[in-house]
Amino acid sequence: MKNVKAMPSLKEAKLRRNLDIETIHYKMNNKYQNLGKGKLYYIYTYGCQGNEADSEVMAGILEEIGYKLADNPLDADLVLLNTCAIRENAEQRIWGVLGQLKGRKRDNPDLLVGICGCMPQEESATEKIINSYDVDIIFGTHNRDHLPDLIYEAYMTKAKVVEVLSNEGNILEDAPKHRASTHKAWVNIMYGCDEFCTYCIVPYTRGRERSRSKDAIIEEVKDLVAHGYKEVTLLGQNVNAYGKDLGLDYTFGDLLYDLDKTGIERIRYTTSHPRDLDLKTMEAMRDCKSVMPHLHLPVQSGDNDILKIMNRKYTHEVYMEKINKLRELVPDISITTDIIVGFPNETEEQFLHTLDLCHEAGFEGAFTFIYSKREGTPAARMIDNTPEEEKKERLNRLIEVTNEGYLKGHERFLGRVVKVLVDGESKNGEGMMCGYSEHNKLTHFKSTDTSLVGKIVNVKVTEAKTWFMIGELCE
Ligand code: 5AD
Ligand code: SF4
Repeated sequence: MKNVKAMPSLKEAKLRRNLDIETIHYKMNNKYQNLGKGKLYYIYTYGCQGNEADSEVMAGILEEIGYKLADNPLDADLVLLNTCAIRENAEQRIWGVLGQLKGRKRDNPDLLVGICGCMPQEESATEKIINSYDVDIIFGTHNRDHLPDLIYEAYMTKAKVVEVLSNEGNILEDAPKHRASTHKAWVNIMYGCDEFCTYCIVPYTRGRERSRSKDAIIEEVKDLVAHGYKEVTLLGQNVNAYGKDLGLDYTFGDLLYDLDKTGIERIRYTTSHPRDLDLKTMEAMRDCKSVMPHLHLPVQSGDNDILKIMNRKYTHEVYMEKINKLRELVPDISITTDIIVGFPNETEEQFLHTLDLCHEAGFEGAFTFIYSKREGTPAARMIDNTPEEEKKERLNRLIEVTNEGYLKGHERFLGRVVKVLVDGESKNGEGMMCGYSEHNKLTHFKSTDTSLVGKIVNVKVTEAKTWFMIGELCE
């Protein structure tokens, strides 16, 4: 049958429905029950761990309504692109993939293509998708749990289905999940961000901070332990703000103490905001055996004026005080960060303050970015006179410094025995396996024993490289 696409106007499509997601029970709803029977799905995931976790939920939902995961994306009857909008280059990649999908839809008119995640939350991106690409379903970050309904409508109406809610809905606590790993799990503890850093699009694409109930989080982790999981990574844009919106006297630090009692062997968390990193969290890192000695604490800049214009609400000195306090409590801790160079009008002197901070803080890794203008954010209205070439040159100088930090962070383990949670065979050479140490260092070791996957083994570190360590299995 020929697909006739009726195109709703964006305005009409937006906020068309506001389903109470708690009333959706995919399995029990006859309407959805056999929607995916005999069909295959594939999800392409871009961007942060939050998107990876969302993709696991969407996979879980799809499997509840009968879909099965395609081994090869080319065999899929339903392809979803879970997108990222954090920087322009992230979006460029997705336009490229959408272009390639045009051909696939021509060859297979029954293929359903959906685009979701952060990009559809930007009105300009959604308009471009509707007008220029052959996409059947377009939905935003707040519509994830409506997926069966959107697919149903796309099949029934053969029209382009667009649903982008601008307001957050309720949290679906018992969302089904198809987890990618059998030993490591993402656990969302909160959604959204209230920080409004002036360069960042996340508060607009992900909405206000909403914390999940502590009981639901603890239950989820206990259930993971019962199913043999060894490690959880607690997720949120600003996990240190956990609980603030619930108005209870229960903070992120309290949650760490409670989760430590669940029997999970390893707890990690990301991302932290330095302003909200409190003493209780640091003490929990010291006291809780399961909380791993690694902290990712984005600093963004080492210059106080830039930090102010970024609306980061801390100074170079306050950031260093927090780091120093943390090192006092957890002396062996590994600290990594995020840094932006070339924020509008950043001077050479201001950039040098960032390099100074990198040396002072002793980062053992950093994600480094050139500032990318995001329409709708306050920074997009700032005049920026720094030439692109200068920004690239600063980024290169920064990377030189952060790479030294990576290497030093590995060298300090030479001769030491580290505990590695084994992920699988290593891409670093035949007969090698790999995993991550407690300090979150990628570690390769000689072995072909695939029964070690998901186990924690002792590895004596014999070589330190910039991006990983090499060692030998030991007792
Ligand atoms: N340009 C460059 N980097 C950005 N980040 C967030 N927004 C931007 C932007 N507009 C970086 C920050 C953040 C990380 C996830 O992405 O460093 O911590
Ligand atoms: Fe973006 Fe700042 Fe929120 Fe992080 S804390 S998601 S950088 S607004």
